[in-house]
Amino acid sequence: MKPIAYKKKRSERRSILLIGCILLFYPVYQFLSHRIPKKPERIELPFNPTSTTFLIQDRFIVFSNPTKTWALSRKCTHLGCKLNYREKEDYLECPCHQSRFSTSGKVLRGPADKQLKHYKVTRNLDKESITVIIT
Ligand code: FES
Repeated sequence: MKPIAYKKKRSERRSILLIGCILLFYPVYQFLSHRIPKKPERIELPFNPTSTTFLIQDRFIVFSNPTKTWALSRKCTHLGCKLNYREKEDYLECPCHQSRFSTSGKVLRGPADKQLKHYKVTRNLDKESITVIIT
């Protein structure tokens, strides 16, 4: 049987070794897990908000009313299918599981439970085009 002092010393050494490993590998872990944020993508489109109420693109849809213009992602927040705009009913619907979203991006019917992503829209100086900033 080994003396208690020997066991205590061995336990202390293991603790020091464990702390040393954490101190050594934590910076390496931080370095490897760091991700460079994506640059925002700027997409310029011909769109006159005074004469057009919506414009469907591949990844987003732009809406406008007399007071504002906004863009929503077409990616369903449930499992990522591409949403379709039902103009007569004025909502977006997912073809996969029939989630519905209002034109402001709020969930009207599940299974999706998160609202749609909004993208920033700026009106260009020519007044005939807009820029949608995808982040
Ligand atoms: S992917 Fe859209 S409702 Fe399921």
